[in-house]
Amino acid sequence: MAGAADAIYRAIYRGLLCRLPESIAVAVGQAALRWLPLDRCPIFRSTDPRLAVSLGGVRLPNPLILSSMYYDLTILRRAMGLGFGAVTTKSITLSPRAGHPEPNLVRLEAAAGSGLVNCNGFRNPGLQAYRAALPSLPHRVPLIVSVAGESVEEYVRLVEGLAPFGDLVEVNISSPNTALVYQWSQKPQDVVQLFDAVRAATTKPLIVKLSPDFREANEQALIPAALDHSLRIVNYGNTRRVTEPRLSQGAGGLSGPELFPDTLDNVRRIRRRFGEQVEVIATGGIDAPEKALSVLEAGASACGYFTGFVSRGPFLARRILDRLSRELDQRGIPCLDDLRR
Ligand SMILES: Cc1cc2nc3c(=O)[nH]c(=O)nc-3n(C[C@H](O)[C@H](O)[C@H](O)COP(=O)(O)O)c2cc1C
Repeated sequence: MAGAADAIYRAIYRGLLCRLPESIAVAVGQAALRWLPLDRCPIFRSTDPRLAVSLGGVRLPNPLILSSMYYDLTILRRAMGLGFGAVTTKSITLSPRAGHPEPNLVRLEAAAGSGLVNCNGFRNPGLQAYRAALPSLPHRVPLIVSVAGESVEEYVRLVEGLAPFGDLVEVNISSPNTALVYQWSQKPQDVVQLFDAVRAATTKPLIVKLSPDFREANEQALIPAALDHSLRIVNYGNTRRVTEPRLSQGAGGLSGPELFPDTLDNVRRIRRRFGEQVEVIATGGIDAPEKALSVLEAGASACGYFTGFVSRGPFLARRILDRLSRELDQRGIPCLDDLRR
């Protein structure tokens, strides 16, 4: 059943959405997500209790996380019923932002599959409006609130303002489309101060979202500094910065299957180097059940995706979850944690 639904979505994606200009395809996709009550259909979800995982002490019914992109509360509410174990908000900034002008999203067809390059530039309603709206969102699964700032002070205000409404808080220091956010990875001394300040700002579990563009800095400086300040969850990671002349900014963040080899490699290295001290969310190019399985086997506690949700559709979560359940059956192991090597 899920296989047939998957094929239908692929046909719609290839035959319709991919033929529309990106901005129209995004509008059509988001309108469909908002208006179709897909979250009421049990077919999208797994009820296998063996798939539950813990992230920063918070129980997720399964390890799949919708990665940061949507701020619309109706879409987030729908996504919570589409099989994910947790859902992340768009990164919220202190003031409202209109984002970068169009074109700010283009498709990229590569040998590895369909990807995207975006220079969205944090289009979002800003702290005050989001803080007022968030209490109306029921947490059918845990909610991760994501924040992005350009100074330590901004992050502190964002974390203090939004943490009460999330189960976990993601500190985005890695989006490549806003210079000051992207530059955090190149300023390890300032990041120490940042981690100290955000840790003091909330008792909720904190996630640090890293860039795949700064492997050395991440592993030599940022992860050790995060651990020193009891930030134990690392999301590895964000999009990769690439030149893209079709975008209004001439460059953007690459997402999708081209990222996957590095995502897997990053999980393996982090696990080898930092052992069980770090909980890793593997994000970047996960768009098939086998890919999710391999990052979990490599030691990830959870796996995030966004581009796969667009290119493979809402059935991807269920397909991954069924594959994970089958793997547990075949190996005769009682829970996902035992999958890790
Ligand atoms: C259009 C678009 C907007 C995004 N906005 C955010 C954001 O606000 N904050 C963030 O941390 N990541 C953002 N991301 C990055 C994704 O959350 C994810 O880390 C990245 O796309 C890699 O995963 P994927 O290959 O599964 O898409 C965005 C990605 C896309 C394509």
